[in-house]
Amino acid sequence: MSASKPTRRVTIADIARMYEEGVRFATITAYDFPTARIVDEAGIPLILVGDSLGMVMLGYDTTVRVSIEEMLHHTRAVARGARHALVVGDMPFLSYGVSEAESVEHAGRFLSEAYAQAVKVEGGVRSARTIETIVTAGIPVMGHIGLTPQAVNQLGGFRVQGRSKESARRLIADALAVQEAGAFAVVLELVPAELARAITERLSIPTVGIGAGPWTSAEIQVITDVVGLTQGFTPRHARRFGEVGEALAAAVAAYRDAVVAGDFPGEAESSSMDEGVLAEVLGRSTLDQPSESLAIPLDRDL
Ligand code: KIV
Repeated sequence: MSASKPTRRVTIADIARMYEEGVRFATITAYDFPTARIVDEAGIPLILVGDSLGMVMLGYDTTVRVSIEEMLHHTRAVARGARHALVVGDMPFLSYGVSEAESVEHAGRFLSEAYAQAVKVEGGVRSARTIETIVTAGIPVMGHIGLTPQAVNQLGGFRVQGRSKESARRLIADALAVQEAGAFAVVLELVPAELARAITERLSIPTVGIGAGPWTSAEIQVITDVVGLTQGFTPRHARRFGEVGEALAAAVAAYRDAVVAGDFPGEAESSSMDEGVLAEVLGRSTLDQPSESLAIPLDRDL
């Protein structure tokens, strides 16, 4: 597997091979069937059904509110749309780390009920034992350290992690712990670029950066941020590669105007029936009462 478009399901072995061959790759989030199709068709090798779902799709103010049932529902939709990409389901707040048995059971649901091929778990040293247990059960895990949004209440906000000596050392220890626990990759979120590079150099699994500079093994972004669909605050680390929100608004307005003006639906978007059949149903002769043409005059009151 190279950076070219996959022709079969991407596996964690393919991700490891790309990393060993120094192939840098882009990954992205998706939350529904049509978007997953588009992302998959673009040749993106790994799709994360992130719990960012809660904030960018469900309108919650924090990812902490996302339930496992919501995650499974959206992961299923993405898995149906992604024919080749490795689908990673994000384990939501408290669905892991409370008890080892429950962590494995919940991780397993992403594979058996939602057809993901792997899960993602937040936390470094604090989650290492959980990651190891899930991996031992045969479920691939992607780690996530740095800014871990589920712990935002503990971290005191969405801010860059690892700037002080102490927290930089902690992040390096977190990265090593996640690798040691058996994760196949690790997300570095909101980490200074130099520290992300140092971590990447010390690991033998791919680092997947978001707000972590250009020197990670791969990049991940929240799809709404990079296609121009995010409403309100867009993080500094996201670049808008399109204006899907504007295109959507223009399309909805054009549809509204066409309906109001009587331009839509027209003949091309309508079906017709045999006039004789309709005349019989209505109990009249086709000669007496020709049916209205599809070009309906719109001078009547609505
Ligand atoms: O939930 C999410 O989308 C994530 C990415 C930001 C890595 O965790």
